[in-house]
Amino acid sequence: MGGLLIAIDGPAGSGKSSVARAVAERLGVADLNTGALYRAVALLALRETLDLDDGAALSDAAGSIELSPEGACVDGVAIAEQDLRTPEVSAAASKVSAHPEVRTVLLDVQRKAAEAGRKRGGAVMEGRDIGTVVLPDADLKIFLSAAPEERARRRAVQSGREAEFDRIQEAMKVRDRQDSERDASPLKPAPDAVTLDTTELDLDEVVSVVLELARKSEAGKGQTR
Ligand code: C5P
Repeated sequence: MGGLLIAIDGPAGSGKSSVARAVAERLGVADLNTGALYRAVALLALRETLDLDDGAALSDAAGSIELSPEGACVDGVAIAEQDLRTPEVSAAASKVSAHPEVRTVLLDVQRKAAEAGRKRGGAVMEGRDIGTVVLPDADLKIFLSAAPEERARRRAVQSGREAEFDRIQEAMKVRDRQDSERDASPLKPAPDAVTLDTTELDLDEVVSVVLELARKSEAGKGQTR
């Protein structure tokens, strides 16, 4: 027994993190941001000047990281968001995440975190491959998309770097391409995911749709118990 597991996937700037946070808060369940794990591996790699092509060294680093609702943790302490959100870490995270060895280590970390959340009442887990690979049996799968210009605009506003819109859009394009074209768990909707184009929607509208879908899944789950 346990609560609902909701998977939210999508590209950078599609609204995943904001939607996941708001939905988890409304449902009173854990919000698990898996991008923080890949960012944490990238941060450790940059700090320790590891070779970003060395899958074995990177997967060793990944082995020291855990995921909790507070974020990516090393030795039980959450890594500060501001350290994980720099442009250098974003670019390195996308490279690090293409290594199958790294993904294998982090797969276990993510499943453990989801199971702990489920036992405590449920979890919303967000990333790129949650519905396809990490939680193929999630109760509800959402895939968020939005037009590339809108995603870059949101990222620029969010980071207070509006003047750097062109640079942000270019970096996002590179990251989108790497994330979608890699062989290991590429970014794509699960066949049973509900896809929502958020280009014209504000946060509250998307959150309402997801909460309504969650309510329906909960009701459906109740009937099959
Ligand atoms: O979601 P966020 O932008 O923080 O993720 C950073 C990077 O981590 C992504 O560009 C992607 O390469 C990788 N990632 C992934 N699988 C996930 C979550 C993130 O490959 N489930």
